[in-house]
Amino acid sequence: MKTQVGIIGGGPSGLCLARLLSQRGITSVILERQTREYVEARIRAGILEQGMADLMRQAGVGQRMDREGLLHDGIVLAFDGRTERIDMAALTGGKQVMVYGQTELTKDLYDAVLQDANITVVFEAGQVQPAGFLEGSPSLTFDKDGRRETIECDFIAGCDGYHGASRAAVPRDMITEYERAYPFGWLGLLSDTPPVHEELIYANHERGFALCSMRSPTRSRYYLQVGLDEKVEDWSDARFWDELRRRLPDRFAQALETGASIEKSIAPLRSFVAEPLRFGHMFLVGDAGHIVPPTGAKGLNLAASDMFYLSTALIAHYTEGRDDLLDRYSETALRRVWAAVRFSWWFTSVSHKFSSDPIEHRIQLAELDYLVSSVAGQTSLAENYVGLPFDADF
Ligand code: FAD
Ligand code: DHB
Repeated sequence: MKTQVGIIGGGPSGLCLARLLSQRGITSVILERQTREYVEARIRAGILEQGMADLMRQAGVGQRMDREGLLHDGIVLAFDGRTERIDMAALTGGKQVMVYGQTELTKDLYDAVLQDANITVVFEAGQVQPAGFLEGSPSLTFDKDGRRETIECDFIAGCDGYHGASRAAVPRDMITEYERAYPFGWLGLLSDTPPVHEELIYANHERGFALCSMRSPTRSRYYLQVGLDEKVEDWSDARFWDELRRRLPDRFAQALETGASIEKSIAPLRSFVAEPLRFGHMFLVGDAGHIVPPTGAKGLNLAASDMFYLSTALIAHYTEGRDDLLDRYSETALRRVWAAVRFSWWFTSVSHKFSSDPIEHRIQLAELDYLVSSVAGQTSLAENYVGLPFDADF
């Protein structure tokens, strides 16, 4: 089989990239290790920046998102018994974020991709192996239904997440990896209960961080900072709700509506960047190239700028015969990656409990107090939260 762009991974990055390319007549094959049902069921991100929402529209899959997504103008910071609202829209000239779950976004993308004549999806593709990308003759080999198959392509897009095959295929002396693991994780709970508040609440508490988020007016998503040795089985719904109440200001603790969980899981927190993001004819996109801790909801939104830069560069290659944008992909994408790595690290640092040394908490409270009393401090948070712009003239 032959195609123009061979894509490893059918998560949001691979699917959206394929659609952006298809809009300009560029063909692709997506190799996904799992089934469609498995990929769609993964509960992950919930907040889209305007840049990601615009890419969904550009990919022709924004209709349901625009109907059902909830636009948010602000967030609430809770600390030291205080609740302080950051009016992001007022601080950024009207920018908003949208609440729309990654599960829904992935469903919309698969609905479009599976009907797209320019895109072929192979589910349950095993042992995917990229080759020839450094020599200019890229190919992907994989197992399907007991046979070993090969796809020849012009370029490979590694959209296969942190544990994927693309980054692993790069010779070690060509790649530098920067990594920080945090000494805690997030325990998430999804429930069909109305959100405790109409906006998200990020809570710094002596017992640890808590986040109140949502997926719809009737579905809530809550997170608690937990130790890395914690097990989901040890967290009954009742224990989760009790702990959440303790970490929230009284008015929210009292208003919290609890119910049975639909899903509960623990995710570790990590900052990770691979440099560069290009290896000959192979490009890393999204989580395959970088991971941020979830505080501030940047993971999926960072994949968006990679998709924007790579699709623009590949379209310039195929329609204008220009390769200068492909040559600049890694450098341009990494600039926004590092900005988000910094912001996510900072937001994590100021909101989570790192040790039991009381001076740490007092310094965090002083920083948050400064932040909410300073227009400059609030503006910096707001600009990063709604998303730094893509460099359209890269
Ligand atoms: P992924 O979504 O990881 O998709 C990669 C795809 O590649 C998957 O479908 C996988 O099955 C497939 N794949 C992997 N290896 C192979 C292989 N060898 N061959 C073929 N296919 C392969 N972000 C937020 O903003 N907010 C959150 O609350 C949040 N929570 C998260 C919780 C968890 C547990 C994780 C892991 C991430 C979370 N993120 C969150 C980050 C966000 O979900 C990711 O940034 C986003 O999914 C990146 O999309 P992606 O397509 O690049 O990678
Ligand atoms: C969600 C996750 C985040 O990391 C965040 O900062 C905000 C919301 C969520 O899953 O809803």
